[in-house]
Amino acid sequence: MVKLFISGFGTVGQGFVEVLGRRVDFFENRYGEQPIVVGIMDSKTVVTDPKGIDVGAAVAKKLETGSVGTEKYTDSVKALDSVDYDILIEVSPTNIKTGGVGLVNITHALECGKDVITVNKGPLALKFQELITLARKNGCKFRFEGTVGGAMPIINLCHENLKGEKISSIRGIFNGTCNYILSKMDKGQPFEQALKEAQQLGYAETDPTNDVEGYDAATKVVILANSVFGRNVTFDDVKITGIRGITTDAIDQAAAHNMVIRLIGEISDTRLEVAPRLIPVGHPLSIAGTLNIAQIDADLAGPITINGHGAGKIETASAILSDLIAIMDMRY
Ligand code: HSE
Repeated sequence: MVKLFISGFGTVGQGFVEVLGRRVDFFENRYGEQPIVVGIMDSKTVVTDPKGIDVGAAVAKKLETGSVGTEKYTDSVKALDSVDYDILIEVSPTNIKTGGVGLVNITHALECGKDVITVNKGPLALKFQELITLARKNGCKFRFEGTVGGAMPIINLCHENLKGEKISSIRGIFNGTCNYILSKMDKGQPFEQALKEAQQLGYAETDPTNDVEGYDAATKVVILANSVFGRNVTFDDVKITGIRGITTDAIDQAAAHNMVIRLIGEISDTRLEVAPRLIPVGHPLSIAGTLNIAQIDADLAGPITINGHGAGKIETASAILSDLIAIMDMRY
């Protein structure tokens, strides 16, 4: 039986337990049993049960009281150590400046020989090589599909389906908030109003500066550079220009030439950049709305384009489910 510890019980953590509930038959048919959740912690409290937590009750308690447990903790490492688990699902709020508690939790779990699945971008954008090295040293599986493009399956696509390819570049839209704003500005809506709508849709980061300044897209560029291109770079190596400076005049001028402006992340062996680019109308990267998109240039397969929801409760949880199945397949 696989025992899960979920650190972070906001939208994505709750979405993940909902997804587990929707896949009961799948787990039964594939493994003859269910993965159980033995620990859940939010930012202040923790709940554990070695026999399995009633996750429906945990969600209800979180929604009613704002806390998942009655037991307060001050040290997330001690909270993690308070129950035996196999896989850490790290979905606490991201911190792209320090890696935050997510970095502490992931590092500790890997040090203890646990497998880790995360959608938390900050720790990977800052300490990718250190974490991968630690995972390898301790024989742990470390999967992070949901960190880039949410439900858009780009990392596992490159690692698994395209593993025999030489990938020369990836260009894409990796921030739904900026794409929403830019495509609303195409229709004449002011920047601030479009940003407010993106926040209401739940796409924007807690601090939307990270979206509009291009920092969020840059974390994804770093993760792709390290994981797909085998580079050893961090957030500070990315040349970043956000969309704050994009005026309605610039949008109008682009439209006059049948172009749109999109915030594009570019990764290759020599390039690492996030910047607004002119994209011809009708080109795949001219996509509107909150979707993410990536164009992968592979030497044998040629260009491959994928798009999908870059955020969302159930959508992001789908990436965690895919990583969980990959790990469970190796265990059963
Ligand atoms: N704030 C991000 C976005 C969420 O707008 O795409 C997903 O990382």
